[in-house]
Amino acid sequence: MKIKTESSTKKKTQLLCGFVLENSNKILGLEKFDAKTSLAINQSLKDMQGKLGRLNIIPIPGKKYAQRILLAGLGKKENLTKDTIRLVSGKIAQKARELKLKEFSIITPPSFVTDQILSVSQIVEGSKMALYKFDKFKGEKTDNSPDLTIIVSKSNKISQAIKIAVIVADGAIFTKSIANLPPNECTPSTLVNFAKTISKKNKMKCKIISKPELKKKGFGGIIAVGQGSKNEPKLIVLEHNHGTKNEKPIVLVGKAVTFDTGGISLKPGDKMDEMKFDKCGGCTVLGIMKAVSELKLPINVVGIIPSVENMPSGESYRPGDIIKLYNGKTAEILNTDAEGRLILADALSFGEKHYSPKAIIDFATLTGACIIALGNNVAGIVSNNEKLTKRINESSKRTMEQVWELPLNQDFMDMIKSEVADMKNIGIGRAAGTITAAAFLRNAIENTPWIHIDIAGVAWTQIATKEKSYNPKGATGFGVRLILDYLQNL
Ligand code: BES
Ligand code: MN
Ligand code: ZN
Repeated sequence: MKIKTESSTKKKTQLLCGFVLENSNKILGLEKFDAKTSLAINQSLKDMQGKLGRLNIIPIPGKKYAQRILLAGLGKKENLTKDTIRLVSGKIAQKARELKLKEFSIITPPSFVTDQILSVSQIVEGSKMALYKFDKFKGEKTDNSPDLTIIVSKSNKISQAIKIAVIVADGAIFTKSIANLPPNECTPSTLVNFAKTISKKNKMKCKIISKPELKKKGFGGIIAVGQGSKNEPKLIVLEHNHGTKNEKPIVLVGKAVTFDTGGISLKPGDKMDEMKFDKCGGCTVLGIMKAVSELKLPINVVGIIPSVENMPSGESYRPGDIIKLYNGKTAEILNTDAEGRLILADALSFGEKHYSPKAIIDFATLTGACIIALGNNVAGIVSNNEKLTKRINESSKRTMEQVWELPLNQDFMDMIKSEVADMKNIGIGRAAGTITAAAFLRNAIENTPWIHIDIAGVAWTQIATKEKSYNPKGATGFGVRLILDYLQNL
């Protein structure tokens, strides 16, 4: 999809799209048309009433400038959110594709509706993300994406906003496209190849730690979880160094279990296929790093991705095992399905030790309990730092990637104490499952500001996922827009 801007609505286009507020009698930003066309527009406006998400198409009699006009409802002005333009733009783009158009145009709403820069970004993100479809393995592919013309008065700020939005959307799309890969086509080594590709393209440092070195250096969690699979575990480290030399980096850590069977504590068969999405945290970090390097953000950012396949076999780790993590603490394994915290603990300690970061942010499809607590539209956050949490909450409000904080205090830390080791890898029964998992991670970090984002409910579309044009079925890329907003506002 190519994107360009145009300052007038009187340019030839196959589909001229404009937004309409509820119960309003005009298309926002549309210049005057001839009497015949205006009559048709007025009738259509009455029919659709600007209701949120409604799309009405009017063929244009003389086809003077536009072949058709599309009216897109935004709903009531007072109900506009930071997601409305993104959602409706996504719908428009999908409609243009359905009509097999080569191109379409969207008129930016004027500034009395929303900030123009913001709406241009949202038009770009919404249309690009909505047109991504996971059809790599389909004989019959979805028709190609139509090009987009954004109608807006031109300025440097606008072109800059478009450039950024394209990179952000491409980051999220990249995350979706690797997260959607099936587990036979995406092993830890596959993720290594993706990391190498993006690092070469954008001049990031990329270091891969493979099994022998992981063993030697004491990554006991990654080794234990990975030992049941013939697809060997990997630790991927990407460095974007565009800040000053001595500036501490932000470290991003992402769980990448390319398939989670549960191991010896085998999961039931129902929906086990969805555990290909257990690599989503790592994929989010890859998408963010790709975008960070393309944006050339003037900061230092490190992406760390522990990747394993959790399989049952003669070589698997077992319930009852006691392992030693990277930071020297020991963990009693009571359930091999609580594997994410083990590989993350190693990666978090490694990140803190080697980079003395300003902050550590981790993403993981860590607990089913998070879905029970918060459903499929809000991610769980747990942190040791109020300032960092505030920053993430602000980014969440701007990007509409929703998060909700859960508490972590000594009582929860006590719930993972073991009789025979420093910790056990599960809490007490099913109580506060998301928090006891976070408590395990908390033990891997000394003092660094840290926030854990449990994306189990939001990383891919599930039963209670709210339908969004820009998140079609499959991986959502949750976290990419959120963290890019945070990093851009540091
Ligand atoms: N990857 C799963 C969590 C998960 C389950 C995410 C379903 C999304 C949907 C994780 O590794 C896991 O299995 N967690 C267990 C922990 C339990 C054994 C303490 C869980 O949530 O059941
Ligand atoms: Mn598991
Ligand atoms: Zn898992």
